[in-house]
Formats: sequence, structure tokens, C-alpha cells
Amino acid sequence: MKCNICGNIASIKLDYANLRLCNLHFVNYFKRRIKRTIEKYKLINPGDKILIAVSGGKDSLTLLNILSELREDINFYLEGITIDLGIEEYSNKYIKIVKENYEKFKVEYKIISLKDELGFTISEIIKSMKRRRPCSICGAIKRYMLNKLAYEWGFNKLATGHNLDDLLYILLRSYIRGDYKQALKLYPLLPGNDRLVTRIRPLAEIPESDIILYSRIKGINFLEEKCPYSKGSKGFTYRKLLDMLEQESPSSKLSMLRSFYNIYKPALESYYLKRPIKLKYCKSCGMPTSNEICSVCKIIARVQRG
Ligand code: AMP
Ligand code: FES
Ligand code: ZN
Ligand code: ZN
Repeated sequence: MKCNICGNIASIKLDYANLRLCNLHFVNYFKRRIKRTIEKYKLINPGDKILIAVSGGKDSLTLLNILSELREDINFYLEGITIDLGIEEYSNKYIKIVKENYEKFKVEYKIISLKDELGFTISEIIKSMKRRRPCSICGAIKRYMLNKLAYEWGFNKLATGHNLDDLLYILLRSYIRGDYKQALKLYPLLPGNDRLVTRIRPLAEIPESDIILYSRIKGINFLEEKCPYSKGSKGFTYRKLLDMLEQESPSSKLSMLRSFYNIYKPALESYYLKRPIKLKYCKSCGMPTSNEICSVCKIIARVQRG
């Protein structure tokens, strides 16, 4: 098997692009695709102040590596944030890994403790909210905290490591649940307003398998262990399904996302525009919400009541 670019021995086979590549040309191809996503969806402009949310997993650490390399070319400011969720040993492990990587890629960072910010760790919150799925509570709290801090610290963009498989999982889930509002949030750029900071997802069109290859080739040390509360999550089944589909018919993941953007999303938007949600500000914390009190303030009030 020979590299399609240089003719040396190829180590990587990308069926979706019908390419065989050596490590060097795979790395170039990978970076070029992310740059293309950034340009196509106008994710980054010169002068931007970008806060990158880093969890210690392969996706956000790969993004940290790529954005740290691009910041001089495009001329934007980059800083990292990691939330210490207080999930015992698991949090200690990813905090150690993110610190190593922030230093390696020379990116300023802040580690924020959820216990200090909200008064409770994720473990304490999950234990007292037994009836709700842990990952959905944790996801809501992470989104809230990341937006709140990016806003308070004066950043105009928040970058996350969501990849192609993450977006397709959300798409499938929202389709099955009939939750079209969730589906509408699936885009590489989610424009902000007032207290809602613009969110960008530069890895939105990159399959998870390519991110694993890239991080291994570049020697990025990431946490492979999954969060202890994710056991039994339906996410794994959806992802297996998507992988089976891709194996049977290469490039189906990307076509699924593109058809959503080009056909279903515009149709949903025109339906949705007739029923706009009026954003208000939470009476308790002042952050944007569609209700009187935002979902995170409600969760914290429940935990306080015990
Ligand atoms: P997840 O919701 O765990 O799939 O993570 C999605 C994205 O959220 C990651 O790629 C990160 O950019 C960000 N993220 C997740 N966990 C954290 C964390 N503890 N601190 C900062 N950012 C995070
Ligand atoms: Fe939040 Fe697992 S990372 S519940
Ligand atoms: Zn090559
Ligand atoms: Zn609130």
C-alpha cells in the first residue's frame, strides 16, 4: 500500500476519501480539513478572543494542539478552561493531563472548581438527583458554566472539541425523540447574542477515528478512561451503529451531516422561525434561559433542599 501523495509506504487507509497516506501526509490532510471547516463556516476571525474548553479527552486536546498552531497565522488570542467537576479519581486524572498539555502547547489556562462555583461537585449533584440521567445533568451544567465564564471573562468565542460522531449521535437522538430544537443546534457555528457567547466546533466534520490516529501520531497524551457515570449510556450504542454504517458504506457519516445541513436544517429553521423561543434572563443568576429560572439554578435549588 503506497501513499497517494509521496509514494512511500502508506500506514493509513481512509476509505471515505479513497486515500492511502503515510503519517506525514495524513497529518497534513487532517490539518487542511480543519482549516477548511474554519474557513467554510467562518469560525474564526483575526482579533477573536477564543476560550477553548479542554476536558482531557482526545478531541479537545487535539483541538488545543491545532488552535495553538493557528493562532499566529490567523491572529487570535487563545486561552484554555477546564472544569474540575469533582468526580473523585477521574477528575484528578484529567486535571493532571490537561495541565501537561496546556504547558506543552504554551496556552494560558484556568482550572475552575465546580464546588467553588456552584457549591457542589458533579458527584454530589448526581447522587441527590437520582431520577435524572447523570450525563444530561452534567452536560447542562458544563454548557452553563462554560458560557457563563466565557461571557464574564470577555471572550467572544467558545471552542469545544465536538467531532463528527458526536454531532451525528445528537442528530440521531433528537430524531428518535422528536426534539427538533436539539437538532437545530447541530452546526459548526452557533451564533451568540448578549450573554450567550458564540460557540465554535472546528472538529465538526472530522470523524472520531481520524482524531485518534492524529493524537497517536503526534504523541498527544490524553485520558482514554471514560467518565464513571457514562456507564450504560445509550451513546455507545448509537456510535456503534454509526460505525457499522460507515464500514458498510464509507463516507455515509459525512453525507448524513451534509444532507442535514443542506436539506433538513433549512426546512426545520423555517418551521422554527414561526415559533421563536423568547430568551429571558434567569431571575436567580441572570444568564439566558427560556424560563423564569434557568435549568441549572433549578438543579442547584433541588440539591440544596436535599
Ligand atoms: P462531552 O460533553 O463530554 O462530550 O464534551 C464535549 C466538549 O465539551 C469537549 O470536547 C470539551 O470541549 C468540553 N468539555 C467537556 N468536559 C469538560 C470539562 N470538564 N472542562 C472543560 N471543557 C469540557
Ligand atoms: Fe459529566 Fe460524566 S463527565 S457525568
Ligand atoms: Zn506520503
Ligand atoms: Zn440561573
